[in-house]
Amino acid sequence: MGYVGLTSAACLAHLGHRVTGVDIDADKVALLSRGKVPIAEPDLDELVTERLADGCLAFTTDLSELASAELVLLCVPTPVAFDGTADLRAFDAAVETLSDVLRHDCVVVIKSTVPVGTTERTAHTLGRAAVSNPEFLREGHAAYDFLHPDRIVIGATEDEAADRVAALYDEISAPVLRTDPASSELGKYASNAFLALKVSYVNVLAELCERLGADIVDVAESMRLDPRIGSAFLSPGPGWGGSCLPKDTRALLRTAGQAGVDFAVLAGAMAANRRQHERVVEKVREAVTGSPNGSLHGLRLGLLGLAFKAGTDDVRESPALAVATLLAEAGAVLTGYDPGVNRTTDMRPVHVVDDPTLVAKDAAGLVLLTEWPEFRTLDWAQLAELTEHPTIVDTRNLLDTETVTRAGFAYHRLGR
Ligand code: UDX
Repeated sequence: MGYVGLTSAACLAHLGHRVTGVDIDADKVALLSRGKVPIAEPDLDELVTERLADGCLAFTTDLSELASAELVLLCVPTPVAFDGTADLRAFDAAVETLSDVLRHDCVVVIKSTVPVGTTERTAHTLGRAAVSNPEFLREGHAAYDFLHPDRIVIGATEDEAADRVAALYDEISAPVLRTDPASSELGKYASNAFLALKVSYVNVLAELCERLGADIVDVAESMRLDPRIGSAFLSPGPGWGGSCLPKDTRALLRTAGQAGVDFAVLAGAMAANRRQHERVVEKVREAVTGSPNGSLHGLRLGLLGLAFKAGTDDVRESPALAVATLLAEAGAVLTGYDPGVNRTTDMRPVHVVDDPTLVAKDAAGLVLLTEWPEFRTLDWAQLAELTEHPTIVDTRNLLDTETVTRAGFAYHRLGR
């Protein structure tokens, strides 16, 4: 009943199915049973409370309730270490508990992102049909994406099992791709890694634009106008982060390595992402000290945005924190504000405050790291007054140049 499981349970109930959400966390189950949703996802609260009320959805820690299930969806976390090795302990433990609970004709569906070959291995372990049905949910849009998917992918070796999974989505009109388990599993990694590739590509282009006097916004727009390239994921930033893209790119690179394939273009995109954090620090150093070699030691810097993207409170593998760590290593003293992040959160080396004016106070410079729309309408004149040195590096090219410069800030951006 994490972000994928809870979203899947609520949305499948919404689609007319009888769903029991099972989790080992009794506190979470008690909370959910009272209609309290612990994650900030739009529409999820309403979906859960409505379906709880009409009895289509229930939550339990009692595994024996799975005995009557026609399908069981595995939505357990599959974290990946920095070297790309997937930690499948939670997944394997869940599979283990299923083995002597399920009725003979129950189909096991794997929604978790798992290394290629896991579906086959699971089917073998359980001695029954197992189907790969990866999720393509974006944080901040999870319920929407579940009910309006671009595609439904079903990886199965038996048609009957595939039919049973396809029937889950009868109420949804979206292309259904039926394939083998390995292609379904690899397709998920391939999609996420390609999104990361696009962002790294545009981040390096932004650096080239600065050297050549070109404007990344117009270069990206020119690319967007080619439908073969597509319009999304071409905005430069401090680097791609979150709980998925970094994890899935590392896993895919390792899978390729283990298969003897040199996935250089993927490795290049990952290296470019690490380099992007350093590039932001170089820009801050230049903007705040006036020199690319100036010292940041002891300087107070204010960070606007800590989450890995706007619209979420998630700081997991946030590029903002990667940049903050490098700035702190350079000796800067950091204060940070993010509308989605509670100030009691311990995010050393950042001192988290709950008001953007506290970020500006006595700061030698500001760095905007997450593209929260509300940052565009801050009182920039007041912020300029409060800072010791009104300079800002906007790593999302979010702000209105006129507003910020008129307020007195020296305004630095990426690729423009
Ligand atoms: C991603 C995939 O989009 C989703 O399909 C998959 O199921 C899970 O992983 P998510 O991790 O929620 O979703 O974040 P996403 O919206 O993809 O953004 C990932 C990162 O790329 C963020 O740090 C974002 O700021 C960055 N990004 C995105 C850019 O820097 N520029 C862009 O143009 C787009």
